[in-house]
Amino acid sequence: MSGRLVIAIDGPSASGKGTLAKRIAAHFRLPHLDTGLLYRAVGVKADRLAQPPEDVAAGLQPEDLADPGLRTDVASQLASQVAVLPQVRANLLNFQKKFASQSAGAVLDGRDVGTVICPDAPVKLFVTASADARAERRFQELRGRGVDTIKPRVLAEMAERDRRDSERAAAPLKAAPDAFLLDTSDMDADAAFAAALAFIERKGFRSSGP
Ligand code: DC
Repeated sequence: MSGRLVIAIDGPSASGKGTLAKRIAAHFRLPHLDTGLLYRAVGVKADRLAQPPEDVAAGLQPEDLADPGLRTDVASQLASQVAVLPQVRANLLNFQKKFASQSAGAVLDGRDVGTVICPDAPVKLFVTASADARAERRFQELRGRGVDTIKPRVLAEMAERDRRDSERAAAPLKAAPDAFLLDTSDMDADAAFAAALAFIERKGFRSSGP
């Protein structure tokens, strides 16, 4: 491998970035941080305790990230709402930067990893998919979990979150200029992984494993 490998993966919800990040981290044996989980934990805890999200972000504990309620749609919306607050973002910044600076290297996925958290990462991926493809995935995932919903509702909630995440002043969702754009609309998880891996290998990074 050439140098310390930090991989920044950004993109909107249900683009496939989380699945991709996990596979890439496993392939390169790197620690992985789902940065969205931090915002989910802040949103859910601030709501439950009726505390200012900024204070919750400053005192976030590892056990807060283990709450099974963080994967619900309510948590998604709460996360997106607290994520617009500059002081919440500032209070979560050091933890993320420290994670990225581990000597082993790291994979982080989120919205602003390539632009704000790790602007010097040697590998940046921006994963997208059409709104319809993303809503269909999210709809199937929710149905698989037994959640009673309809696709137009999933689409509308996703559009609202995308708009908030992209239009906020503080670290909005956007591709870093040097990010590799990966549109997964017509790709399954294997194809997305293969395309991402080919890009990373072109950059000179290879897994040292078997
Ligand atoms: O990736 P996710 O769906 O778990 O993220 C939940 C919300 O958290 C998302 O709507 C916006 C916010 N977020 C963010 O602002 N910055 C990040 N790096 C990760 C997530």
